[in-house]
Amino acid sequence: MDNAKLILNGQEYEFPVIVGSENEVGIDFRKLRATTGAISFDPGYGNTGATESAITFINGEEGILRYRGYPIEQVAENASFVEVCYLLIYGKLPSKDELTKFENDLTHHTLLHEDMKKFFEGYPANAHPMAIMAAMVISLATYYPNLNENESSAEMINLNIIRLLAKVKTLAAFAYKKSIGQPYIYPRNDLNYVEDFLHMMFAVPAEEYVVNPVVARALNLLLILHADHEQNCSTSTVRMVGSSGASLFASIGAGVTALWGPLHGGANQAVIQMLERIRDDGSDYKKYVNMAKDRESGFRLMGFGHRVYKNFDPRARILKEAADEVLNELGIDDPLLSIAKNLEEVALSDEYFIARKLYPNVDFYSGIIYRAMGIPTNMFTVMFTMGRLPGWIAQWKEMHDDPTSRINRPRQIYTGERNRDFVPLDKR
Ligand code: ACO
Repeated sequence: MDNAKLILNGQEYEFPVIVGSENEVGIDFRKLRATTGAISFDPGYGNTGATESAITFINGEEGILRYRGYPIEQVAENASFVEVCYLLIYGKLPSKDELTKFENDLTHHTLLHEDMKKFFEGYPANAHPMAIMAAMVISLATYYPNLNENESSAEMINLNIIRLLAKVKTLAAFAYKKSIGQPYIYPRNDLNYVEDFLHMMFAVPAEEYVVNPVVARALNLLLILHADHEQNCSTSTVRMVGSSGASLFASIGAGVTALWGPLHGGANQAVIQMLERIRDDGSDYKKYVNMAKDRESGFRLMGFGHRVYKNFDPRARILKEAADEVLNELGIDDPLLSIAKNLEEVALSDEYFIARKLYPNVDFYSGIIYRAMGIPTNMFTVMFTMGRLPGWIAQWKEMHDDPTSRINRPRQIYTGERNRDFVPLDKR
C-alpha cells in the first residue's frame, strides 16, 4: 500500500502504512513528532492503534468477534471457559493432554494464603466487592513477588498466571461471603472451574450444595463471552501499567479498577438498576427512551451503545437467546426481562438510536442471567472480572514478551497559562 502523505505548514511528509492480517489499515505515526514537530491529537483514542496484537479480532461494522481467529459463536457453543483461557493466553487450542494439565494446574492453585482471610475481615460489610477484588489481586503480589531476575523468568511468570486464574474465583466468592456474613467455603478439587466457583459462592457448611448444571452452563457461557475484547478501557489500562514493568498482579489489579466504571464493566450492574427503576416507575419504558434522547436529562440507556460495534454486538445476540433459555429452564419469570425486551424493541426502531448506531451491548442481557442464577447485583462486575481475566493476562503477556514494546506515554496539547512570575503570598 502507498505511503500516507501529510502536508503541514506547506511541507509534505510521508508515513508508512501498516496493514493487519484482516486488512486493517493504520498510518504509522511513530516518527510523526520527530519529523514534523507535531503530535496526533485523539482524545479517547478512537483512532489510535496502541499496539499490534494477535489475540482478538473485532469488526465493529459487521459485528464480528474472534478469539485467535475462532468466531465467538463457535467458541461459545463448543468450548469450556478454561479452554478459552488457554486459547487466549497461549495462542492455540489445547490438545487433550495440554488441557488436562492446565485444568489440573488451575485446580491445584485455588487456595489463598490463610492470612489473606484477615484482609477480607477488615472491610466494612457493605464494601463494594470490586474494591475488595482490586485490592486482593494486587495483594497477591505481596505473596508472590516478582522482584529478581530468577523470579521474572518465563516459568515464574507462567506460575503467576496460573495462580491468578485459579485464585480469582476464590477471591470473588470470599468477597461475596464476607458481604453477607457467611463463612468462607473452601475450593473443592473434584469440581471443574465453573462448578467450583458456584460451590464457593452458594454452599454453606450446614448442608450439601449441588451445582445446578443449567447455572453452570450459563456461567461458562457468560465467562467465555467476556473473555477478551482487544484494546478496551481495562485492557489498555493493564497494558499501560504493565508497560512500566509493573508485575502481572499490579497490572491486572489496575485493570479491575478500570473495569469497575459504569461506562465499562460496571454497566451490567447499572443496567439492572435502570430496569428496576423503570419497573418501580410503572414499567413506562417509553418515558426512559425519551429521557435517553434528551441530553439535558443526563440519562443514558445503560447497556446500549459501544465504541466499536456499530451494527450489533455478537455477544449480546448470544446472550439474548441464552437469557430466554436460562430463565425458562430455571422456571423464573423476571419482569425485568420483558422490560428489557420492550426497551430494546422501542429503542431499535427509534430514529435517535438508529442514527447513532446504538445497539444493546453484552451487558444489556448478562445482568438478567446473573440475577436468575442468584448472583447479587453488586457482584456482576466481579463476574465480568473473572471472565475478562484471561484476556488481560494474554494481552499483558503479549506485551511482556514483545522485545520492541516501550513504556506507554501519551503526549498532550497544553492549554494552560503561559510562562509567568510566581507571586509571593503577601502580594496575592
Ligand atoms: N443512551 C443514549 N444515548 C447514547 C448512549 C446511550 N446508552 N450511548 C451513546 N449515546 C449517544 C451520545 O449521547 C452521543 O450523542 P450525540 O452524538 O448526539 O452527542 C452519541 O450517542 C455517541 O456517543 P458517545 O458517548 O460519543 O460514544 P462513545 O463511543 O464515546 O461511548 C459508550 C460508548 C461509553 C459505551 C456509550 O455508548 C455509553 O455510555 N453506553 C452506556 C454504558 C454502557 O452500556 N457501557 C458498556 C459498554 S460495553 C462494555 O464495556 C462491556
